[in-house]
Amino acid sequence: SRPSPAPTQTVGPDYRPESQKPKATVSKEPTQKNVTVLPQTPQLIALLTKIRDANTDRGDFIFHSNRIIRLLVEEGLNHLPTTAHTVTTPTGQHYDGLSFQGKICGVSIMRAGESMEQGLRECCRSVRIGKILIQRDEETSQPKLFYSKIPDDIADRWVLLLDPMFATGGSAIMAVDVLKERGVAEERILFLNLIASPEGIERFSSKFPKLHVVTAFIDQGLDDKNYIVPGLGDFGDRFFTI
Ligand code: URA
Repeated sequence: SRPSPAPTQTVGPDYRPESQKPKATVSKEPTQKNVTVLPQTPQLIALLTKIRDANTDRGDFIFHSNRIIRLLVEEGLNHLPTTAHTVTTPTGQHYDGLSFQGKICGVSIMRAGESMEQGLRECCRSVRIGKILIQRDEETSQPKLFYSKIPDDIADRWVLLLDPMFATGGSAIMAVDVLKERGVAEERILFLNLIASPEGIERFSSKFPKLHVVTAFIDQGLDDKNYIVPGLGDFGDRFFTI
């Protein structure tokens, strides 16, 4: 069956009349409980429009991608455990708040995932970051693990796995297998990406039902070269190639 397009709907604040809100293509709804899609706000849709545009130059691509990455990291952090924490303010009064519990670690899937490291560092000062390099094996055309550098104590941490484009899910599945071999529990992994394909999500969620995915947008599907459509082309090339 042909992939169905993502839905079109009006975008804007609820209080504004429908007639004053422009229409735009928004993310497909996830069918899996372990997938969170960022709210389809005017800001997010405008940022995605900029990075999807083939005429956007590298500087603008980086700037707007970084803003989406920041939103993804902030949402990802909402999925980490917190504990009640009361403080005394300068007025001498108490405030019943929260504090984060547990250590975290970023793991980027090279090369494109490295684009998301800065956004994570901006939210979590001096965060440990590991790297995994997976490439297609020329002979078998299957993904193959080429390199990994992962903090020794990763099994004690919550892991934010970083890769901007979640296409077939092949690399992400291999990366999660590497993390699980290193003792990381599936439910302690959050996979952050900008654009996901329904095929990738389906495959990944059925293999790792306890792992959580946070994405900015679920697109229409994959083309015959396994690019996400409508997508944005090759993220790594657009972010890193001058
Ligand atoms: N990786 C990309 O950079 N783009 C895609 O569309 C799929 C994988």
